[in-house]
Amino acid sequence: MARSTTTFVCQSCGATYGRWQGKCESCGAWNTIAEETVATTGVGGAPAKGGKTRGRAFALAGLDGVNDQAPRTETQVGELDRVFGGGLVKGSVILIGGDPGIGKSTLLIQASARLARMGHRVVYISGEEAVGQVRLRAERLGLTASPVELAAETNVEDIVATLSEGVTPRLVVIDSIQTMWTDSVESAPGTVSQVRSAAQVLIRYAKKSGAAVILVGHVTKDGQIAGPRVVEHMVDAVMSFEGEGGHHFRILRAVKNRFGPTDEIGVFEMTGKGLREVPNPSELFLAGRDLGAPGTAVFAGMEGTRPVLVEIQALVAPSTLGTPRRAVVGWDPARLSMVLAVLDAHCGVRLGGYDVYLNVAGGLRIAEPAADLAVAAALVSSLSGAVLPADAVYFGEVSLSGAVRPVAQAAARLKEAKKLGFTKAVVPEIARGEMSEAGLSVQAVTGLSTLVADIAASGVGRDRPKAAAGA
Ligand code: TYD
Ligand code: MG
Repeated sequence: MARSTTTFVCQSCGATYGRWQGKCESCGAWNTIAEETVATTGVGGAPAKGGKTRGRAFALAGLDGVNDQAPRTETQVGELDRVFGGGLVKGSVILIGGDPGIGKSTLLIQASARLARMGHRVVYISGEEAVGQVRLRAERLGLTASPVELAAETNVEDIVATLSEGVTPRLVVIDSIQTMWTDSVESAPGTVSQVRSAAQVLIRYAKKSGAAVILVGHVTKDGQIAGPRVVEHMVDAVMSFEGEGGHHFRILRAVKNRFGPTDEIGVFEMTGKGLREVPNPSELFLAGRDLGAPGTAVFAGMEGTRPVLVEIQALVAPSTLGTPRRAVVGWDPARLSMVLAVLDAHCGVRLGGYDVYLNVAGGLRIAEPAADLAVAAALVSSLSGAVLPADAVYFGEVSLSGAVRPVAQAAARLKEAKKLGFTKAVVPEIARGEMSEAGLSVQAVTGLSTLVADIAASGVGRDRPKAAAGA
């Protein structure tokens, strides 16, 4: 017997309440709680009568069994495969989230077309666009010759019934999960219970059939539609597709991945003809560098297994405000506060009366503490007006005591710097073996104060007064 119960569910985090309230106590969001009706039939059949459940005995297996599954299928979109961990795993479910308009549909239709051209069955279900619109996009991208099977459908039971006919698809794209609905739940599509139940049906299909399923999820700030958060724990991998407005670069980042690493990124560029892979992101992030201006330092970073060189830009300007401004794009603001405090306490660099702006060029977001040294160098350079050498890279973690600590994969960072024509590296004391990159002069610094003194000294003879600063 189906019985309906009414609950109030936060559309942002999925917390449930007995009655409506303005603010979700779980995630702190306002006006995200909506009424939902759930038909409570037992999952996978009706509950047994008399309150007792009788289970079915099943066979247990050992760890050393043989897997009959072909491990992975490469999509041939290199940047995508890199983030997936080497290709699509059979029966896996991947959630790709991102802002509306960032390029999720474009990425997935391109990947679908590649796979289909290799002879795999690929089904693309669009819940947002009509078949004609998807075709129009494919035409623009020059993909119409690829045998991708299209449909504009939103009912998951119908979708699973359709997919179960014929050859099992290698890939099924559901664009987007927020438009899907299932018969078993009465709420409107896009609510937490619909998104969750629809995802459950599709995940069950993936596990049973062995088809890889990619779910697209929109992320919105106002919580009008349930965020992809509510299905994150049910899927095998969660990716986010990001980009700064105004930049053409798009970065695919793995947030969770049961079948691969979570620190790899895939870099794309949005062009008039769809997304283009960027196999060498450093060249892209360093393009158009403003040489000869103070306040910029090149950071030799790592994104997963790949070194990425990126320019760190800092601007330090006298503040007219009681509390000076600290604005950061692409880096952790708490980390900036820490570097500022260390500069103040151990190096005599007082920035209390200055506004500080920090920007990572190209729209990249850096999470590594290894960027501390480059950030400190850029800050001191901006303050003193001393231009840092254009052919130098910086990396190293700064500790609260003002020491510069070693970071992982120094050799890979130095190699990339060398490859891109840099001749100097300012780094922590590292193993001698890693320093022997030919043609690169490596300067090891043990304390941040040494670096500050070096930069300040280089600025002196140069006679480059800070414009307008002292006036
Ligand atoms: P889309 O893939 O529809 O985004 P999402 O599915 O994440 O909502 O991408 C839409 C944006 O991409 C739109 O602003 C136009 C732009 N775009 C290009 O610049 N070039 C192209 O070839 C395509 C197809 C889209
Ligand atoms: Mg879309």
